[in-house]
Amino acid sequence: MPQPSAKPNQRLLKRPRRLRATPAIRALVRETGVQVEDLILPFFVSEKIRKKTPVASMPGVFQLTVKEVAAEAAKAAKAGIRSVLLFGIPAKKDERASQAYAADGIVQRAVRAIKKAAPGLVVITDVCLCEYMSHGHCGITELEGGHLQILNDESLELLAKTAVSHAAAGADIVAPSDMMDGRVRAIRTALDAANFKHTVIMSYAAKFASAFYGPFRDAAESAPKSGDRKSYQMDAANALEALREVALDIEESADIVMVKPGLPYLDILWRVKEKFGMTTAVYNVSGEYAMVKTAAKNGWLNERDTVLEMMTAFKRAGADLIVTYWAQDIAGWLKK
Ligand code: PBG
Repeated sequence: MPQPSAKPNQRLLKRPRRLRATPAIRALVRETGVQVEDLILPFFVSEKIRKKTPVASMPGVFQLTVKEVAAEAAKAAKAGIRSVLLFGIPAKKDERASQAYAADGIVQRAVRAIKKAAPGLVVITDVCLCEYMSHGHCGITELEGGHLQILNDESLELLAKTAVSHAAAGADIVAPSDMMDGRVRAIRTALDAANFKHTVIMSYAAKFASAFYGPFRDAAESAPKSGDRKSYQMDAANALEALREVALDIEESADIVMVKPGLPYLDILWRVKEKFGMTTAVYNVSGEYAMVKTAAKNGWLNERDTVLEMMTAFKRAGADLIVTYWAQDIAGWLKK
């Protein structure tokens, strides 16, 4: 009996493997790629330390002093990284987050030091109150009949003041991550009034209440003392609501929108990019980092290959920019 493939009319004509035959052909037909220019490197700068301190749940990530962060930023710029994102850990926390908008606050000082050490670097500041509030929530709180309330409109003023103080220190981009309603408009209005018309707003537009932020809260010392963030950050189950959130931020004049976390929310990233066509960022968060780091440490995953595959997935799903703790490593890997 003749083999089916021997019959001329059943010959295999379509062979997708032709385009996978050699590294050169694969490179030729590759649809997406990761470039060092796409990456944003986060830093934790602390007022409470005298020298760099490792973050236990994020191997390879450190809390840094102002001096150290400036040096690390210069090193990143040398490696081709265009942008860094700053989180601050103040020495004093209170119920008004006063160190978030203090002219000589930790982030404000870090921005000035980085601008001096690496003038060409795009400096982004995270605008949130949780690291600066004694209770660890992202807004002003009030106890109402035994229930903790996070007050929306009252918090906007503090967020706007924080953003203006970052711009005054020299930040190029402010990135509100608090998820209060109306914060983008409040921040834009305050920036414009203070004559910072060109300061860019990158809003954490679709930010989900996620268990993947666990390690970050160690790094930033920002875990809420009681309750959770579910009354302001989004429910993991909601995609259409995420689109409405992004639409609102665009209406309120966000220049760049962000989806966060990354890997578990690639569908959201895709839909946001398709629907709005905005410059879109994704945050490859601390839990995603910790998972791969731990597996790699045990020899269960190849870190380089896994990370580059993750970055490719973000690009394929529509990300223009990727916030990742691996930025410095990736810069090195891409060079080789
Ligand atoms: C501040 C903020 C958080 C992250 C970025 N900005 C934590 C949170 O919302 O609790 C998380 C980043 C990460 O996990 O890497 N609100």
